[in-house]
Amino acid sequence: MKLALFFINLIIISNVCSKKIIQSTKPNIVFILIDDLGYNDVGYHGSEIYTPNIDKLAREGVRLENYYVQPICTPTRSQLLSGRYQIHTGLQHSYIRPAQPLCLPTNLPTFADKLREAGYATHAVGKWHLGFYKKECLPTQRGFDSYFGYLTGGEDYWTHHRAGDGLLPNSNHWLGMDLWDNEKVAWEYVGNYSAFVFTEKIQQIVAQHPVEQPFLLYLPFQSVHSPLQVPSSYEERYKNIKNTNRRIYAGMMTCLDEAVGKIVHSLQQAGVWDNTVLIFSTDNGGEVAAGGNNWPLRGWKRSIWEGGMRGVGFVNSRLLPASVQGTVNKQLIHVSDWFPTLVQGVAGSSLDNITLDGFNMWKTISSNTSSPRQELLHNMDPWPNQPKEFNANISAAIRVGHWKLLTGDPGSNNGQWIPVPDSGIIPIHPLKITGKDTWLFNITADPNEYHDLSTSHPEVVEELMAKLKKYYADSVPVQYPSEVEEANPAYHQGVWGPWQ
Ligand SMILES: *[C@@H]1O[C@H](CO)[C@@H](O)[C@H](O)[C@H]1NC(C)=O
Ligand SMILES: *[C@@H]1O[C@H](CO)[C@@H](O)[C@H](O)[C@H]1NC(C)=O
Ligand SMILES: *[C@@H]1O[C@H](CO)[C@@H](O)[C@H](O)[C@H]1NC(C)=O
Ligand SMILES: *[C@@H]1O[C@H](CO)[C@@H](O)[C@H](O)[C@H]1NC(C)=O
Ligand SMILES: *[C@@H]1O[C@H](CO)[C@@H](O)[C@H](O)[C@H]1NC(C)=O
Repeated sequence: MKLALFFINLIIISNVCSKKIIQSTKPNIVFILIDDLGYNDVGYHGSEIYTPNIDKLAREGVRLENYYVQPICTPTRSQLLSGRYQIHTGLQHSYIRPAQPLCLPTNLPTFADKLREAGYATHAVGKWHLGFYKKECLPTQRGFDSYFGYLTGGEDYWTHHRAGDGLLPNSNHWLGMDLWDNEKVAWEYVGNYSAFVFTEKIQQIVAQHPVEQPFLLYLPFQSVHSPLQVPSSYEERYKNIKNTNRRIYAGMMTCLDEAVGKIVHSLQQAGVWDNTVLIFSTDNGGEVAAGGNNWPLRGWKRSIWEGGMRGVGFVNSRLLPASVQGTVNKQLIHVSDWFPTLVQGVAGSSLDNITLDGFNMWKTISSNTSSPRQELLHNMDPWPNQPKEFNANISAAIRVGHWKLLTGDPGSNNGQWIPVPDSGIIPIHPLKITGKDTWLFNITADPNEYHDLSTSHPEVVEELMAKLKKYYADSVPVQYPSEVEEANPAYHQGVWGPWQ
């Protein structure tokens, strides 16, 4: 009898153990998403800004140098979390404003949902910006076991308060607190700089996490989005930078770089670093009016020129084969590709029954094989007209192989090239051609978009226009509701939060 019990116990124990072993073979995933980080704002791209921790991770890992994100915050986050183009979520236009009753459609699974199903603990720390008007939209309802951060698109780094976005004439005065610990307001951090608070939260999660369970850490930092705010000791390191915006921004970047170093250190201390895949990415191009820079690329944040979308990004992991460690990957990769890359490529789960616009890039990244992605719909935004059929007046861009076609208004004031302030570089000015609505570039040969080939290659324009027409026919209508009074924090104890 005793012996039998002993054997049963042994079987139970060995089951638990083998389960643990199976789980711990799945790599941990750390996704660091930086807000408004420009192409020319990291040391390893030649920036004057000091980012030693980021540079080291990039140089030891696989640098993605044909990597794309979306031109603004909500669109990039929506594609990252859902693996779907904006034409399939209704979020084609602009970003989600604090008082709009709008969020990432709740019927779509997120990559956090899928990783949780695969046995992962899932934590998010930082900016959400995928809508919060009802509880079902909150990160804790979208696949994350825990969430610490803010729900809107930007706010004060110390007070964690912000105003409305002014779609309604009076909403500029709607001031509210926006910092959440799961579904509770985190009042105790008023006065603490967000990069420090987030880093401390991340360190706590890592230190308390059981090693045998794989985890997802989704870390969308507030840095380095406006408002330009940083503890003065960081700004003081850049006395050489005369331009005030650029100087503060540089300090913010260095403060963020320190946070990245601390995160890696905490993963090493917890003994999980060797089994971790770290992804570093910007969410869109730099905002030149708020210290960011994308030189030599054309345009900036909010535009479909390269300066708005060509992303800073890399992967660092001890799990990558030595043959690709420390290399540059020039395969076409897009932010919508992370969903299948992480869920299928890294975690080894099935993607049956899920429709995605992204591709699994794990093989491409880990063995430099050619990208399964031959085509990339950057976006198309027919708001507010939404005509029945696509036409060249609609702002859109598509990439097919070397070619990129842009239509409508691409943004960034005709596509200016903006050098770093006081760099001594004479800016190049684009020709203004009134009524122009079509541009074609060979991006491989001409990444800075100097030479429009639309008139010399009409057959390519025609072919790419036909593709845009097809994508348009396959789009869902744009959702962009008016702001509503009920959202005003004055009705909710001075807090931005769900109102429905
Ligand atoms: C918040 O600020 C207070 C006062 O400066 C400090 O004592 C505390 O450690 C800070 N907490 C975090 C998480 O930064
Ligand atoms: C990756 O593959 C491409 C060809 O597809 C090649 O040109 C490039 O040199 C390779 N990179 C490395 C680091 O091996
Ligand atoms: C996919 O759907 C089919 C049919 O509904 C079902 O039998 C199968 O189990 C599903 N696969 C997964 C991985 O959910
Ligand atoms: C073309 O688009 C612009 C905005 O980019 C808009 O103001 C104008 O009304 C549109 N024209 C037509 C004919 O649709
Ligand atoms: C585009 O540029 C690439 C790189 O220079 C070149 O290999 C390719 O032939 C070009 N395509 C065309 C159609 O000119």
